[in-house]
Amino acid sequence: MKLVTAIIKPFKLDDVREALGDVGVQGLTITEVRGFGRQKGQTEIYRGAEYNISFVAKIKVEAAVPAARVPDVIEAISQAARTGRIGDGKIVVTSLEQVIRIRTGESGEGAL
Ligand SMILES: Nc1ncnc2c1ncn2[C@@H]1O[C@H](COP(=O)(O)OP(=O)(O)OP(=O)(O)O)[C@@H](O)[C@H]1O
Ligand SMILES: [Mg+2]
Repeated sequence: MKLVTAIIKPFKLDDVREALGDVGVQGLTITEVRGFGRQKGQTEIYRGAEYNISFVAKIKVEAAVPAARVPDVIEAISQAARTGRIGDGKIVVTSLEQVIRIRTGESGEGAL
């Protein structure tokens, strides 16, 4: 199992949610976050000093998925979230040791 974490532009959330549903992702967690990448936020906002580091509002999307689904999930997020402009975001994949469905006690991929 893997945890796919994507940082995306907030207005792309609906597209990403739909694309993930289309590839069989059953559950998602989102968080409103702020961050910066290589441009340090300065070209994504229109206020503040040019060389100040600014945090830009993003949405973090997290999905726990079977390892075999990761390529499809990456492709779905990439296509749905891409505008071709800076700040489109990033996808990080990490290994998941265990997942448990609290209601039933199921664990592993059966709990996803
Ligand atoms: N190395 C990183 N570690 C943690 N979070 C990151 C990292 N890089 C980017 N992020 C997060 O992803 C968001 C979007 O990053 P962004 O797409 O601007 O990356 P980038 O590498 O600068 O690419 P681009 O040149 O396309 O803008 C950032 O606002 C930040 O929240
Ligand atoms: Mg950037």
